[in-house]
Amino acid sequence: MDIARVVSAYFSPTGATRKVAKKLGESLARELGIPHKAADITTPKNRQKELLFASDDLVVLATPTYAGRVPNKLAPELERLIRGSGGACVVATTFGNRNPDSSLVELARIAEAADLRVVGALSIPVRHAFTDKLATGHPDEDDFALLEDVAARVAALIGSATDASDIAAPVIRDGMPVGEYYRPLRADGEPAIFLKAKPVADASLCDGCGICAAACPVGSIDRERPLETPGICIKCQACVRLCPQGARRFDDPDFLSHVQMLEENYARPCEPEVYLGEIARS
Ligand SMILES: Cc1cc2nc3c(=O)[nH]c(=O)nc-3n(C[C@H](O)[C@H](O)[C@H](O)COP(=O)(O)O)c2cc1C
Repeated sequence: MDIARVVSAYFSPTGATRKVAKKLGESLARELGIPHKAADITTPKNRQKELLFASDDLVVLATPTYAGRVPNKLAPELERLIRGSGGACVVATTFGNRNPDSSLVELARIAEAADLRVVGALSIPVRHAFTDKLATGHPDEDDFALLEDVAARVAALIGSATDASDIAAPVIRDGMPVGEYYRPLRADGEPAIFLKAKPVADASLCDGCGICAAACPVGSIDRERPLETPGICIKCQACVRLCPQGARRFDDPDFLSHVQMLEENYARPCEPEVYLGEIARS
């Protein structure tokens, strides 16, 4: 089957998903001897135009896991943005060492609904946006080696197919359905209620550079008044992690207690999950 280019489309507020998507996309392009293009759909500015894919594009579609799913504000955006033409797609989700739950299944469904043919899927633990204590340092060199290996296997699969429709989609997580959103807990085991929490900014540190406003994936920070966050907050941590002055943080008690709970319970090693399609036999 002929593939003309690889396009890696990714939503990545704090950068881990970008690293995974680009490594996978670049490795696929190298294996297939074709160009690679990155399509960063993290900010509203970059989600204005539809993403139209040709039938000979190989698409890498990557998002983080939020509450065990594709980020809920992003899912409808993806449905609006992505237009496939029956071409092949590899879906990838990152997760912060707790659990990807349904995120990969959901992303595969979104890709299929956009007329892409899922030929591979993977979910990989990476440093949690909330804390450096979970999956510290990931993605690392071993993760990149795994992504190169996955790329080689996907390229071989594609090489043995005449058309994307020859490849039966991988069975992800034993064919589980998309489940409910994960409900966060506090360190004492009670529900952590922080849906309305927003970052606070320290006026004595903020120099008004505007990096937070440009980075916010839901456009909720005003460039001229960066001490406030008037719009919705999806807790992605982009503004907190990207502020060069360290001026932004979350002080919501339930949020902080949830982070403590994660650190106490989810520091164990966590493995990536990889699923490959196979040539459909008629
Ligand atoms: C709002 C939010 C919810 C999250 N929910 C989960 C989760 O349910 N399971 C998990 O293992 N990691 C979870 N994470 C961790 C992210 O999946 C992880 O940090 C991801 O790499 C972030 O991607 P990015 O660096 O590309 O922004 C969550 C992170 C955020 C910001």
